[in-house]
Amino acid sequence: MQFPSKIYIDGGDPEETKEADAILKKAGYHGLDGQTTNPTLIAKNFSAKNGGKKVSMADAFGEYKRIVSEMSKVIPDGKISIQVIGDPATFTTEEMISQARDRIGWIPNAVIKFPCITPALAAVEEFCEEGPVNITLNFSQEQAAAVYAATKTHNYDVYVSPFVGRLDDRKENGMDIVANEVEMFNALSDGHVNVLAASIRNNKHLMYALWLKCPVITLPFKIFKEWSDGGFMLPPKDFMYDSPGLVEIPYDELSLDKDWKEYNIKHDLTDSGVAKFWEDWKGIVE
Ligand code: E4P
Repeated sequence: MQFPSKIYIDGGDPEETKEADAILKKAGYHGLDGQTTNPTLIAKNFSAKNGGKKVSMADAFGEYKRIVSEMSKVIPDGKISIQVIGDPATFTTEEMISQARDRIGWIPNAVIKFPCITPALAAVEEFCEEGPVNITLNFSQEQAAAVYAATKTHNYDVYVSPFVGRLDDRKENGMDIVANEVEMFNALSDGHVNVLAASIRNNKHLMYALWLKCPVITLPFKIFKEWSDGGFMLPPKDFMYDSPGLVEIPYDELSLDKDWKEYNIKHDLTDSGVAKFWEDWKGIVE
């Protein structure tokens, strides 16, 4: 069996990784291609398992390490995103680089996930020479262009994660961002940034991302299970994505030759996303 995109699971529970990987193998696919995690998903899994008990910050990070280590044992050849975490008010580039250098040693197949904000892109510019990176909370094509420009000297894989569902939630067509970024990078001879469709909420999102041949799609276990239960259907050649009630996000003819700092990467959903990740992480810390 083959898919036009790599298939990841989005979650914080290694049991889901195990189950999804087994289902794919049973269906004749080589198994799960990767896993994305984030502070909210890890905290949720941790609270569910330990009855809401709070732990020290060091132990919370220890738990994150334990969870991704379990995932890594299940999919040693898959890419596993581990996010840098800090208080957005004080999180510096230096601290992000230091966390990235630590987390890359947690498991052999780590990809370090950074939010799409200025201090993080400065960290990414440096760290992309040391390990693979995934820039998360991506809500605009211009942010993806900045990721491209910031990672020109990369020595490892580079991913950018457009969040579809969160744009849909406010009636903007989130799949437009995926389509626009795939188009932008496909047009380049050095399209070194892999679009990783995230915040996938339903089968229509999945079908369109597959139809676009988006390099990677990360799926919450529930959406994955619906897809596998339905026999891993693929979109027909003439697939049309209908998105009633969602406002189009048009393609932007961006120049990709600029310094990354010249792009406007500000987005309110990125800022609120970073704040929420920190709030959820603090929720498990005493
Ligand atoms: C991806 O890396 C993210 O963890 C995820 O897809 C976020 O999805 P949400 O918008 O449903 O929280």
